[in-house]
Amino acid sequence: MWFPDYRPRRLRRTENLRRMIRETRLSPDRFIYPLFVRKGKDIRNPIASMPGVFHLSPDTAVRETEELQRLNIPAVILFGLPEAKDEKGSEAYDPDAAVQTTVKALKDRFPELVVITDVCLCEYTSHGHCGILDGHEVHNDATLEVLARTALSHAEAGADMVAPSDMMDGRVGAIRHALDENGFDRVAVMAYSAKYCSSFYGPFRDAADSAPQFGDRRAYQMDPANALEALREVNLDIEEGADIVMVKPALAYLDIIRRVKEEYDYPVAAYNVSGEYSMIKAAAMQGWLDEERVMMETLTAIHRAGADCIITYFAKDAARILSAS
Ligand code: PBG
Repeated sequence: MWFPDYRPRRLRRTENLRRMIRETRLSPDRFIYPLFVRKGKDIRNPIASMPGVFHLSPDTAVRETEELQRLNIPAVILFGLPEAKDEKGSEAYDPDAAVQTTVKALKDRFPELVVITDVCLCEYTSHGHCGILDGHEVHNDATLEVLARTALSHAEAGADMVAPSDMMDGRVGAIRHALDENGFDRVAVMAYSAKYCSSFYGPFRDAADSAPQFGDRRAYQMDPANALEALREVNLDIEEGADIVMVKPALAYLDIIRRVKEEYDYPVAAYNVSGEYSMIKAAAMQGWLDEERVMMETLTAIHRAGADCIITYFAKDAARILSAS
């Protein structure tokens, strides 16, 4: 009979031993919490397909952020729901719209909070596509101008970072130039660089009322089958001045996160998207999964794959567990 000399189980025997050799450690420092905001007062409307997530008004967004401060979560990303939609998504750059108003309210109250804004047109256009239409196609260069104008309006409201999620070619460069020309060189760009055309965005499109009215987003978001193309997208965004590059979604794309991290010496963000959140919630509500453990395992895996920061609807729940342990 042969027995092993080296036994990995020796270092798994007790929690203190496991603690000593643990390779990845999650921390609330890594979390970015998404907020859906609309104009009004005292709004806190639950989003049916995302239990625990709400539509907020600027005042309730401030209240929600007090809780984030207590939990030591450093950053939020804002998504806006407009009062009216039109062909060109013009409320996206309205200085009095929900996002701009909430940015101001948050920065007044919490100057240290990192306030990031999602820059896209799909919530604001009547057709639900991420840009300006030319027939049934999204016109790339006409969209760049509107995106740059939107990013600038967020910077003028006080945003620390803008995050273009539209997937137009050249948008990072267009936004970077517009910001610099207007004296906002300190405002960072977090680019949704490798954003896939994913069915995991379903619940978000309910939350943001942003589903396309015809067709789909395959002509601008990436094919889930491609990995080398993700590296080219990341490369372009870095050359155009991105400060942080993002992979989205996270869970089905851990290989992409890892490859981007290994290939580029750049901060990498990952978006743990709505469908990834809602499927854990739904299974937990059925009693089929242990929500806390699956949540922590998922977030740890995203970090282990190479993500420096994680946009997640679980940020508060996970931070609560981390601060208790
Ligand atoms: C806007 C945008 C989307 C998400 C973030 N920004 C939706 C989409 O591209 O259809 C999805 C986020 C999530 O599912 O949590 N373009």
